[in-house]
Amino acid sequence: MKAGYIQFTPQLNQVENNIKRLHKYIDDQINPDQVDLLVLPELALTGYSYPDKQSLGKVSSEKYNKLTVDTARKIAAQINGMVVIGYPEYTEDGFYNSSLLVASDKTIGKYRKTHLFGFESEVYLPGNLGFNVFETRLGKIGMMICFDWFFPEAARTLALKGAQLIAHPTNLVMPYCQRAMFARSLENQVYTISANRCGRDNWKGVLVFSGESIIYIPKGEVLSKAPVTGEHHDFIEIDLQKATNKNINSVNHIFNDRRPEFYF
Ligand code: ACM
Repeated sequence: MKAGYIQFTPQLNQVENNIKRLHKYIDDQINPDQVDLLVLPELALTGYSYPDKQSLGKVSSEKYNKLTVDTARKIAAQINGMVVIGYPEYTEDGFYNSSLLVASDKTIGKYRKTHLFGFESEVYLPGNLGFNVFETRLGKIGMMICFDWFFPEAARTLALKGAQLIAHPTNLVMPYCQRAMFARSLENQVYTISANRCGRDNWKGVLVFSGESIIYIPKGEVLSKAPVTGEHHDFIEIDLQKATNKNINSVNHIFNDRRPEFYF
């Protein structure tokens, strides 16, 4: 199958226009036959920097939950595949920084960001769904969101639960993740797709997003890397069977060789 990302630049508070721009990008630039799994960034349709619940509430409601699902399903139908998309999920208890795995006719899975970054904890609740793997017709897919990369337990948990590919919507601002995902992919022998955004917006000061969306294969090799700036996409051929074998040589099996009795 072919999987990859669109590195997109949403504008704050312009959800409908962002959706229009995303559809146009896909119509103009993407051959639907060349993609089965498309990963979009964290908060892909709203932008990132909502400094309080009141401002976030203008782009996160039941209406916007539905708009996100409808948009993702439409794109999934267009590519005859699946879409992972980050969005600010509205619930009666509060907001979550969430992502969905969507096919044209249904939502397959949802994830709520576990490790909130910086001021996010002022507007979002910490994710309460844990790390789950979704068995799909394409393979076993897990999700984590942006700052979760800093906690190796996130990717490890997904891999131990059988994920062959980790879809990783991001709005990265620090310069480390794109290199660190080398380790997440190698130490778990999984594919990782980090779909970042680029551009900038304001969060108690200017935030510059670092682009360089990146795909690693289980051997830790980079198969695609986007530029730092500018919208971009790439899709690569992926063989998820390569993420099933956890032997790294004739002796060592990275899961069976673990010594959890010594881990804290
Ligand atoms: C981040 O978690 N969006 C940096």
